[in-house]
Amino acid sequence: MMERRGFTRLNYIVMSCLVCALPSFAETIWLSELDLSKMKTGYGQAQANQSITKNPLMIASQRFEKGVGSHADSIFYINLNGGSTRFSARVGVDDQAQSKGSVTFRIYGDGKLLFDSGIRKGGQPDKSAEVSTIGISTLVLAVTSAGDGIEFDHADWADARFEVTGSKPQAIDPPVQKKEIWTPAPGTAPRLNNPCVFGSQPGNPFIYRIPATGKRPMRFDAEKLPESLKLDPVTGIITGNSPQKHGEYPILLKAQNANGQDQREFRLIVGDKLALTPPMGWNSWYIHYDRVTDENMRQAADAMVESGMADFGYMYVNIDDGWPKKRQDEPYRDKDGAVLCNAKFPDMKAMTDYIHGKGLRAGTYISPGPWTCAGYVGSYQHEEMDARTFAEWGFDFLKYDWCSYSGIAKDNSLAELMKPYQVMGDILKGLDRDIVLNLCQYGMGEVWKWGGKVGGHCWRTTGDLGLSPGFMQIGRSNAQHYEYARPGQWNDPDYILIGWVGDAHTMGEGAPVKLSPNQQYQYMSMWSLMASPLFFSGDMTRLDDFTLNVLCNSEIIAVNQDPLGQQGKIVTETDDYFVLVKPLADGSVAAGLFNKLDLAFSVELRWQELGLKGPQSVRDCWRQRDLGTHDERFETMLPEYGVMVLRLSSSKQD
Ligand code: GLA
Repeated sequence: MMERRGFTRLNYIVMSCLVCALPSFAETIWLSELDLSKMKTGYGQAQANQSITKNPLMIASQRFEKGVGSHADSIFYINLNGGSTRFSARVGVDDQAQSKGSVTFRIYGDGKLLFDSGIRKGGQPDKSAEVSTIGISTLVLAVTSAGDGIEFDHADWADARFEVTGSKPQAIDPPVQKKEIWTPAPGTAPRLNNPCVFGSQPGNPFIYRIPATGKRPMRFDAEKLPESLKLDPVTGIITGNSPQKHGEYPILLKAQNANGQDQREFRLIVGDKLALTPPMGWNSWYIHYDRVTDENMRQAADAMVESGMADFGYMYVNIDDGWPKKRQDEPYRDKDGAVLCNAKFPDMKAMTDYIHGKGLRAGTYISPGPWTCAGYVGSYQHEEMDARTFAEWGFDFLKYDWCSYSGIAKDNSLAELMKPYQVMGDILKGLDRDIVLNLCQYGMGEVWKWGGKVGGHCWRTTGDLGLSPGFMQIGRSNAQHYEYARPGQWNDPDYILIGWVGDAHTMGEGAPVKLSPNQQYQYMSMWSLMASPLFFSGDMTRLDDFTLNVLCNSEIIAVNQDPLGQQGKIVTETDDYFVLVKPLADGSVAAGLFNKLDLAFSVELRWQELGLKGPQSVRDCWRQRDLGTHDERFETMLPEYGVMVLRLSSSKQD
């Protein structure tokens, strides 16, 4: 059934009569007469009066002289210039697809859905699409893959035509998005951005730079700071050792400057858990690959502070593959068996001291196999020695990457998959240093079900994001495992690849990522709602205002760092959009609305879908502004690949 939202029945009758009264003036313009080079297609190029494979247009053995052969995913923007009254077509999968293929045809008018064919499969007869275009300025014809990939999705807009009474329809380019900055600049008064909880192990060295925005100089204070810790009131860096006694230490952090003051709870939980909120930082892989040097690491630490990222909670500066000796660059270890660094890392301890000097933490990388993925020395049969070396060097984070362990594991059994991680997990627990353990084995053996048991604090759930079709696919795969995330145990969908990133296939030099501004907002929104570790892996020396505004929004980060530690769950999903919902510790709920398509349309969110009752006050987290109280629902126009992250709190009705 054709949908005509926004029209009353009377309107419709009046308009239909008007249209009936016009036919003598109406001219037919065929869709195939428009500039089809502007039609985006998932494969090949749109064809006038023939199928995408340049054969006659045929749907279920019926031949059509006129029409447009297209291929999912396809999108076509048409400016009607107010001159058209009707668009009609007969839609279906072309016979060239040999009864394979499945697509949906959609027609949108100024962002409203006017026609939806439902799923059309190869071999099925055509379906008639007819829409009134009166009063519509932009018409969009879309073909989606119906959620099963684009193979054989040869989609015909057969017999497609406009009734035109005024100016002619014109194909136009899809709108180009500007790099709009949504995050308001932080004010001059202090604002503390620390998570409310933080875990550490008794007696271990402790370092923490209080994340705060606002004009410097600023004076920091920490009420009820345990005696074993010391705060530098000027830098806001806490150092010392965690208290020896297990328990909760309710510290109150304070910051003051000439423009104001702020205070915020910082509950230090001393026990056997680390990473009570998802770890945040930077990793060297996707920008430096195995070219990484000591200098790159120091520059990253400098930039983390100077760019302001550290003021929002980013604190790990993590080296990835490429620091040990490469195969054939012997000797690999010293006479005692301690792993040696290659020439690019002359003094690892000096490097971590440098990072710690800024109040940040340092991370490293190795494989449980004999070699890392890029062919550098691994820890196999030196696990204990390597872990001790990492602790002596002062590392606070270890990414343990399966790589060549495939050649060691006897088989693919769960026991064999778990073994190397259990070994390292146990060793780390016994060290006098808090080292967060990141399992990197690409999700094998459903790692989300056992990663925590072997001592992991976070685990990659998929293969490498940089080698995949992109963040959306990886993110959605990661989203399925929401039940397994909790404080100290996080699903890791890999790094945030925005800004300048090197191509992973060629391990190339950095270049701006090929994601639209809205997609970059979607990326960060998704990672925040999924309580994912937030590791940027682009170029720290080329952070522009746009990238920083995506990475550093205190309200979006607060959703990620919420102490309840629940991973968001997809509660609603259509072909067009999905809603990802994360319950928060204060009883409010964060809801992300994600537009899956490259076209704008309006989305409605009903409180019922989220299990919420009664009026809700709605806050737009990206723009940090209140959108008022809404009784049952909220409707908004999402632009192409648009996203909105809302924080909903129950509010009493007046
Ligand atoms: C694997 C990992 C990546 C990166 C490289 C380094 O591919 O999944 O994240 O660490 O190894 O070689």
